[in-house]
Amino acid sequence: MSQYTNYIGKPTSRVDGPAKVTGAAKYSAEFNVPNLTYGVVVSSPIAKGRIIKVHSKPVLKIPGVLAVFSHENVPNLAWFDRNYKDDVAPGGSPFRPLHDNEIKFNQQPIALVVADTFEVARYAASILEIEYEEEDHETDIELKRREGFMPGSGKTGFMPPPPPRGKPDKEWKKAAHRIEHEYVHGAQHHNPMELFATTTEYHADGTITAYDKTQGVYNCQQYISKIFGLSKKEARVINHFMGGGFGSGLRPQYQLFMSVLAALELKRSVRVTLTRQQMFSFGHRPHTLQYLKLGTNPDGSLAAVQHHALHETSRFEEYTENVVNWSGMLYQCDNVKLGYQLAELDVYTPLDMRAPGAATGSFALEVAMDEMAYEAGLDPLDFRIRNYAEKDQNMGKPFSSKKLRDCYHQGAAKFGWDRRNPRPRSMREGNMLVGWGMAGGVWDASQQKAAAKAVLTADGHLKVTSAAGENGTGTYTIMTQIAAEYLGLPIEAVTFKLGDTDMPEAPVQGGSWTAASVGTAVKSVCEAIGEKLFKLAQKMKGSPLKKAKFEDVEFVNGQIRLRHDPNQSVVIKDVLQASGKEQLEANTSAMPNYLKQMPYSMHSHNAVFAEVKVDEDLGTVHVTRVVNAVAAGRILNAKTARSQVLGSVVWGISMALMEETVMDHKFGRYMNHNYAEYHIPVNADIHDIDVIFVEEEDDIVNPLGVKGIGEVGLLGVAAAITNAVFHATGKRVRTLPVMLDKLL
Ligand code: MOS
Repeated sequence: MSQYTNYIGKPTSRVDGPAKVTGAAKYSAEFNVPNLTYGVVVSSPIAKGRIIKVHSKPVLKIPGVLAVFSHENVPNLAWFDRNYKDDVAPGGSPFRPLHDNEIKFNQQPIALVVADTFEVARYAASILEIEYEEEDHETDIELKRREGFMPGSGKTGFMPPPPPRGKPDKEWKKAAHRIEHEYVHGAQHHNPMELFATTTEYHADGTITAYDKTQGVYNCQQYISKIFGLSKKEARVINHFMGGGFGSGLRPQYQLFMSVLAALELKRSVRVTLTRQQMFSFGHRPHTLQYLKLGTNPDGSLAAVQHHALHETSRFEEYTENVVNWSGMLYQCDNVKLGYQLAELDVYTPLDMRAPGAATGSFALEVAMDEMAYEAGLDPLDFRIRNYAEKDQNMGKPFSSKKLRDCYHQGAAKFGWDRRNPRPRSMREGNMLVGWGMAGGVWDASQQKAAAKAVLTADGHLKVTSAAGENGTGTYTIMTQIAAEYLGLPIEAVTFKLGDTDMPEAPVQGGSWTAASVGTAVKSVCEAIGEKLFKLAQKMKGSPLKKAKFEDVEFVNGQIRLRHDPNQSVVIKDVLQASGKEQLEANTSAMPNYLKQMPYSMHSHNAVFAEVKVDEDLGTVHVTRVVNAVAAGRILNAKTARSQVLGSVVWGISMALMEETVMDHKFGRYMNHNYAEYHIPVNADIHDIDVIFVEEEDDIVNPLGVKGIGEVGLLGVAAAITNAVFHATGKRVRTLPVMLDKLL
């Protein structure tokens, strides 16, 4: 599959880069439509109870205030589809903003104040008086340890853990070496720079255009169509740019509902922007308790693996993620028991956050593997290689491709792992204890149905569209590369547009599947244009392609030419001009090839090596070096792909050392809901990061051979750092984040 010569694989700078750095790229709160009004959301200060009364009257008297929406007036508005669940909703009954007087979680949106100016709306919202009746709440998962339950109505794609195999209890008990420990992390909140916002433009004919911060414009269009009884023609949703998503924009968020509601009721354009504090009110990586038991035989092979997870969900939805299944497939072991439970709390439903479940599970499994290696007297890397899984034992299937061994070897070589003295506290630099740790992970390589449209105009310009998402990952760029590659056009002659429900449908941008899904659609629509061009080229006077078959030609350098005789060619621009057509158009939809894929387990993998320096007196931890080796199939753009993995490592450092949303259970409220107290790394926290992409060919996953890299890079980072901290200090931390109080 080394046929790509022009653009695929090349480290190409972002085609949308200039727009982003000059301010030409517009975000959802930046569409200054005429006669705009402003909505400000009022959030509940209590975690559970009832609203007795919303005192709207004094607020409505303030000049400039147009409306106060709350459960007192909204349920009378007829168009509410009570049962509608968005595409990515988990099982249960979704939260319906402003639906009734019940308060289900702290910071629940309970009113929207709309005014002519943002300032007036904000002031009015700040003095809106609301009477409550409080009830007792439960927000502490520690108190729910005995009330865990297996989810019944999990979201689409949720795979319950496979049944136990072998004799996991017996083999663990008689293993030569054993460990059992609990691993914990608290809630973590997505913190994209861009605040959630929707600008709903109300048109004179009663239709609306919602500029919404979302990872899925179609999902949002479907949602507001159902909820407000609009046809798809009446509700257009647009998102061209996103200042970070990480999963927070997979589900339609409540500012979309609020903004559309107000626009339809007031027949005015309305913008609703959440505050940073309110960004902590609509989903999070759930607080998770994990229990692991590992055992090894005298030869270092794994005798038993047991992994159980319990995490929080809301009272109204069963949020699920795959936390433990990875532990049944990452290493070879015949005796495995996996358990997964939820506990209901008075919090909002958790939400997918970058590598949902796997980031959590790989932290626990990979710290446990490090502990097990020490217990068995083995090098942590040798221990993993000794237990390398040649097939997916959960599914009983071979991998479509798996170059994890190369990740181990190339990562270790780059890092210098062979110079490691295994003894904790054996390396130091002055006052700094130096530690080296490693870990890794596995993530799904998936593809979803996606469609694309292409138009080639007589001037030789190709425009490709698909309602995909760009949350900063590089979608614009890789799709432009794919289109330029398949039609052999200069990259400047190709424009790719996305994020608009007037375009062909694409899935939500998540699950690391955009490159595979939308990429395959773009490839196929360009091939469709190519076939049309070829037929026209054959009809040209004296065409050298007259007798050729489509398989015999290639599209290179703006030409269609014979593969075996490249001098026999036709210039693409000339074809359209000769045919007298102004443009060629094609529409295609690409599906995964399920028949081809069925016999295989399809996954990406990585291995991470980290160096930390821990101040012996102060307990401060610095991550001085990270090598992240990733096997994710074909890399479409070495530059944007590297950026994605750099971002993953930064987040892994954050997850290991800083991030945690702390709940005050007395109030049932996240207390550090701001950038000052919810710590994330700054530049000074980030040192050397090396990214390696190991070569991996895979013609099973999709025609492009890509597996996606948005999520896999995060796996193992927090564990590698935690393991390095143990190597540096001899202290084993099993509760994230690793802060100095746990080391002194
Ligand atoms: Mo990702 S958590 O599927 O946006």
